Amino acid sequence: MQVIETIRALQLLSEAERGAGQTIALVPTMGALHEGHLALVDAARARADRVWVSIFVNPTQFNEPSDLDAYPRQLATDLAACRERGVDVVFHPSVEEMYPDGAQTVVTVRELSQPLCGASRPGHFDGVTTIVSKLLLAAKPHVAVFGEKDYQQLAIIRRMVSDLGFDVEIDGVPTVREPDRVALSSRNVRLSDASRAQACVLVAALDAAERAVTAGETSIERLLFLVRNEIGKAPLARIDYVELRDPDSLSAVTEITDRAALLALAVGFPAKDGDSESIRLIDNRVLRPARGHVD
Ligand code: PAF
Repeated sequence: MQVIETIRALQLLSEAERGAGQTIALVPTMGALHEGHLALVDAARARADRVWVSIFVNPTQFNEPSDLDAYPRQLATDLAACRERGVDVVFHPSVEEMYPDGAQTVVTVRELSQPLCGASRPGHFDGVTTIVSKLLLAAKPHVAVFGEKDYQQLAIIRRMVSDLGFDVEIDGVPTVREPDRVALSSRNVRLSDASRAQACVLVAALDAAERAVTAGETSIERLLFLVRNEIGKAPLARIDYVELRDPDSLSAVTEITDRAALLALAVGFPAKDGDSESIRLIDNRVLRPARGHVD
């Protein structure tokens, strides 16, 4: 497994691999790799000859400096996990390499970046789209693979790739879950024990909404009430947002009719002792109505 630290070296390798007829799948990550990331690696392996992983804690997508500082960094463990999973190349650039002095270019996907996590974390998605653009330009992969847990991120990246004409396919991979069905996230290790025990309320709320929609519920108000009520069963949970949105445009939906709707949740929980910050978990489900045409 090769570890590459500069954009130029990665571009040269990409040109060489492409010239030799090899296909490349890139898995962009911020490290702290868990089984969710490794499922992306496996999906990448199924799509291309060569699997490349980028590990870069991107400062421009953090709203709070404390969140950036607290983000887990474990390069040696991550490299071992990549090697074990058969990754061919790890790209691990420095902040200065990705954001040289005087850098002033930002990539913005205007509307899709506004609601949901964009509303709670202003500027977050500009950081994501800027770094993903840079990674795509550096690696020039045939395919790039992202998790569906970050539904809005995936939708924004698809839009950006289509708007800017990047010559890459974007693949989404279903969310990987713990045995209690909590979505895997690098943030889970920062939860207190009590928070971790209550975190399964997110998936329980998604299940409750899905059951209701399958049984014919069409009222957004009643669904949102049901979901909030379910989350309220966890005394430590603090709702950031509970929203039903169009799965493509992410615009608000007023009723579940004949189209699918995205139910997206963000819920804060107390962190481990000594950390005053609340740890924000997200999860989502596309709800498909009982009858009628579904896109
Ligand atoms: O999903 C992530 O880990 C990050 O947002 C990404 C896509 C690697 C960009 O920094």
